[in-house]
Amino acid sequence: MYNNWEELENSIVNCKKCKLCQNRTNIVFGVGNKNADIMLIGEGPGADEDKQGIPFVGKAGQLMDKAFKGLDIDRQSLYIANIVKCRPPSNRVPENDEAEACLDYLRNQVILVKPKIIVLLGSTALKNILGKEYGITSARGNWIERKGIYYMPTWHPAALLRDETKKIEFWKDLKSVMEKYNEIKN
Ligand code: URA
Repeated sequence: MYNNWEELENSIVNCKKCKLCQNRTNIVFGVGNKNADIMLIGEGPGADEDKQGIPFVGKAGQLMDKAFKGLDIDRQSLYIANIVKCRPPSNRVPENDEAEACLDYLRNQVILVKPKIIVLLGSTALKNILGKEYGITSARGNWIERKGIYYMPTWHPAALLRDETKKIEFWKDLKSVMEKYNEIKN
């Protein structure tokens, strides 16, 4: 573990810990406020993210931005990262060995950011962070506290693109995040 961002960021530059390094254009490390109270964790970069090196800039990210706007959430105030930092081929779900190889980077990001709240975007984030026994359909919308951090599992924004009805729940979950944040921020 590194106790500063510079060392952590340097440590990933030539990462070849898993096979996802073979096809990447950019490592998508993370973006936002490095002292954020709220951190969001997604699955892994898609094509747009791979091209730009920034998480959630494609269609799913743009939809998430709309929700932020509607709820008066400033994206710059958050820290956003993914379970894997390199794009899986055809946007498939990261395999266990890939997630495991990459998770230490994310753990180190969490240690440095010290968020009070972590929003888990979708099943891959939920299962890799809180445990394989969790399922997104039943876990979403419910707070889980672990070691002083409040976790809110919710739908991955890409799921909203496939199923409009999930938008209301996603919105509700983000609203609940802001309510919790206002309750605990001091
Ligand atoms: N989906 C994710 O899980 N992460 C991104 O950065 C983009 C799409």
